[in-house]
Amino acid sequence: MDNASGPRIEPDNPEGVRWTFTRNYPAAVTSVAAVEPCDVSWRLAGERLRASNVPVSRSGLDGQSVPFDDDSFDAALSTWTLCSIPDVAAALSEMRRVLKSGGTLQFLEHGLAPDEGVRRWQRRLDPVQQRIAGGCHLTRPIVDLLEAAGFTVKNVDVFYEAGTTKVSGAASLGIASSP
Ligand SMILES: C[S@@+](CC[C@H](N)C(=O)[O-])C[C@H]1O[C@@H](n2cnc3c(N)ncnc32)[C@H](O)[C@@H]1O
Repeated sequence: MDNASGPRIEPDNPEGVRWTFTRNYPAAVTSVAAVEPCDVSWRLAGERLRASNVPVSRSGLDGQSVPFDDDSFDAALSTWTLCSIPDVAAALSEMRRVLKSGGTLQFLEHGLAPDEGVRRWQRRLDPVQQRIAGGCHLTRPIVDLLEAAGFTVKNVDVFYEAGTTKVSGAASLGIASSP
């Protein structure tokens, strides 16, 4: 996570199941506006939210339409969220809208694998995954989606997450900036 200053938006529960980045935000982060549609997830995150070193408020219920002014955030963070938001293009467009020019979106997402053999299985299993995993897609091309939304992907590391299948663990970790 970089040291972007000021307020930050996260398009879902920032203390979620895997909870990779958060709790100890960099000193420059002053507050976090979380967008989380699921009451249960928000309740489960309670203890971690209270332990966070910056105030985290549930400020929106749908990443596809967020109640924030244009150009109001310095940074955004998304972890394993772009797989599940139904209209991912709308959510990315909202992030672009509320980020200041030059603001960054830091992401850790799973999606379309780099290898064709894995992609074949992802395409086969995608409909099942969507049904059993709350609308989660296996085949979203994360970098392409970011670029289509107008972000510039500054760096990205694509790898298979340890401890899960290649089908569900094709991860993209990186930083994109808003023009
Ligand atoms: C796989 S979970 C990831 C949770 C968490 N970010 C983490 O890192 O563990 C996918 C999340 O996407 C959220 N989600 C689904 N639709 C959404 C929407 N329209 N706007 C914002 N978040 C959404 C779900 O509530 C769920 O918490």
